Amino acid sequence: MDSLGSPTEKINSQVLSLLTSRRSVRHFQNIAVKRELVEQVLDLACWAPSAHNEQPWRFVVIENQLLRQRFAQALADEYQKDLLKQGHPAGEIKERVIRSQTRIIEAPVAIVLCLAQEDVPIMTSPHLQEEEHILAIQSAALAGGYLLLAAKAVGLASVWMCAPLYAQEITCQVLDIPSNWLPQALLLLGYAAHEPPAPARKPIQDIARFL
Ligand SMILES: Cc1cc2nc3c(=O)[nH]c(=O)nc-3n(C[C@H](O)[C@H](O)[C@H](O)COP(=O)(O)O)c2cc1C
Repeated sequence: MDSLGSPTEKINSQVLSLLTSRRSVRHFQNIAVKRELVEQVLDLACWAPSAHNEQPWRFVVIENQLLRQRFAQALADEYQKDLLKQGHPAGEIKERVIRSQTRIIEAPVAIVLCLAQEDVPIMTSPHLQEEEHILAIQSAALAGGYLLLAAKAVGLASVWMCAPLYAQEITCQVLDIPSNWLPQALLLLGYAAHEPPAPARKPIQDIARFL
């Protein structure tokens, strides 16, 4: 028996290392990802917990390359407008917009994570309704987090991009997504072209309180 002890201890240590070794990877090799692997990742993501087990997440996998280009262009246009409004210099805007657009076009897999409003329970008071909406956002985000970890577990790299949150309407229009599915994020997957260093984490004593 090796130093890790029993097979269960070995598996646990793999899970622990998965949690710390997942990185946001923004450059991928030009290698296609098999549909079955993407389906496996989606299936694993659906094991995330959700409020009332409502599972309010939806995944839109953009396989069509032309559609992906149209989507990347639409997001780039929105991003450019936002950066202009914020008063960024023209050169910087151009660079940031092109970088984001290229990333979306070149990633082997692009998945829009949506929140399905039809799965949010209807409440009688606006206050409770708002809380149910937040619970659904939290649940969808957990599925997104599970998806990133699942991707790592099957040998894929990934990154979460928030762009669709700032362009929900245009995202639904371009991708023909029902208007009651609210786009939350774009998750890019593929085989890593590089292994980025781990950004530092805040020390436990700064972020936790034991009472
Ligand atoms: C809600 C959320 C939004 C994010 N948005 C972006 C984004 O728009 N573009 C990007 O490059 N990375 C984005 N990231 C990735 C973070 O920058 C990254 O997780 C963080 O820097 C820590 O690095 P790590 O994931 O490698 O540990 C996002 C992550 C989360 C959870």
